[in-house]
Amino acid sequence: MSGTKLTPVITEYWDDAKPWSIDSYRSHGGYSTLKQSLETDPDDVIATIKDSGLRGRGGAGFPTGMKWSFVPQNDGKPHYLVVNADESEPGACKDIPIMLANPHALIEGVIMTCHAIRAHHAFIYIRGEVPHPIRRVHQAVAEARAAGFIGKNILGTGIDLDVVVHGGAGAYICGEETALLDSLEGLRGQPRLKPPFPAVAGLYASPTVVNNVETITSVPYIIRNGVEWYRGFGTEKSPGFKVWAVSGHVRRPGIYEAPLGITMRELLDYAGGIREGHELKFWLPGGSSVPMLTADHLDTPLTYEDMVEAGSMLGTGTPMVFDETTSVVKAITRWLEFYKHESCGKCTPCREGTYWITGTLEKFQGGFGQEKEVDELVELCNQIMGRSFCALGDAAATPYPGALKYFRSEFTDALTQPPDDLFSPSATMVIPSPAGVAG
Ligand SMILES: Cc1cc2nc3c(=O)[nH]c(=O)nc-3n(C[C@H](O)[C@H](O)[C@H](O)COP(=O)(O)O)c2cc1C
Ligand code: SF4
Repeated sequence: MSGTKLTPVITEYWDDAKPWSIDSYRSHGGYSTLKQSLETDPDDVIATIKDSGLRGRGGAGFPTGMKWSFVPQNDGKPHYLVVNADESEPGACKDIPIMLANPHALIEGVIMTCHAIRAHHAFIYIRGEVPHPIRRVHQAVAEARAAGFIGKNILGTGIDLDVVVHGGAGAYICGEETALLDSLEGLRGQPRLKPPFPAVAGLYASPTVVNNVETITSVPYIIRNGVEWYRGFGTEKSPGFKVWAVSGHVRRPGIYEAPLGITMRELLDYAGGIREGHELKFWLPGGSSVPMLTADHLDTPLTYEDMVEAGSMLGTGTPMVFDETTSVVKAITRWLEFYKHESCGKCTPCREGTYWITGTLEKFQGGFGQEKEVDELVELCNQIMGRSFCALGDAAATPYPGALKYFRSEFTDALTQPPDDLFSPSATMVIPSPAGVAG
């Protein structure tokens, strides 16, 4: 069995009858150090998060404390916190379970973060297609307001804070932080030119911190338990614990909270291994935007730096696992269809490129591609990578070269025989269901 133990922190009491209620959160220590943290100098709160080494869980792993410290202080402008809860990446399913099961940890994190960055307004921007978390977070905000944790003069500290829950309209691009800000301002959600970065000119051209749900949810645990405790999990460069959402052809898809540095082999063990009678073909550490890996990488630690060294990225830390019944050609064609559909059309490399990649892949999938297109497609992806306005273009250019590296023969075989003839059409994906969060 696994050497690395599961470390339920964010998920600790998800088996409670109603883990999402304020009573449940408070019975586990929630809000117990909020007043003390609001009485701490904001710069000291930023220093604590910096020292903890917390890195953003939205995909890029940017150091959270450093991001907060970019917000200019005493500039006379309003400051904003925007929580990115737009989780729409294929395979990513961790923020929605967190909001369903532990919305108060997110809200306490919002209050502490706003204090640190001297903001009096926070927005939680939730993916529009998921009404349950929207309702749940609304309810949790109302409970926190009734308890005096949100509103005027919080707990007698003289600090005011308003929190707005905003439902998006269902566009993946609105997860990109600047498109999200445009969408929040009532504009069409398209990425903005950076710099200026949101920390300097974000929402309504004011300093704004945009952080992922899991990032902000980690904050109260760090403030409550301290830097040393947090650094006791994970590795030096990738400290802490993480909510891993394992999906695909495993026996027990679901949420597993464990330190960074756990290996995929260990996570697979916890997820019951590959489904009966099948074997691992490939896996992706964090959503469809990161290059695929194989069984050869099962013992590589799941950290930001080790995944890059292995030729992939940790991304959202939501591994997707595929067995031998999966056609690589079909899987990546499906992802590219998603990127093509979600491309906002603002820049040519992505708008046109996703169209051409998808068209070529659909030819491979239909069994009528041409041999020269196998390598031409890599060149097309290279023309998109690094030349697009935002990271969606890079994401769209990632799956094909990554797949070709390990499964070239599948693309050349597809020139004469459609993958449907070679792979079982019964291959199905299993979506993780957050245990204990129904209701
Ligand atoms: C197309 C696209 C979609 C994204 N979707 C999300 C998302 O749903 N949630 C998220 O937290 N970050 C998403 N990001 C990353 C955000 O732009 C941003 O880096 C992140 O919210 C920062 O939070 P963090 O520092 O806590 O990781 C997306 C980026 C791109 C390019
Ligand atoms: S890369 Fe794609 S999603 Fe991003 S701005 Fe360009 S067209 Fe829009």
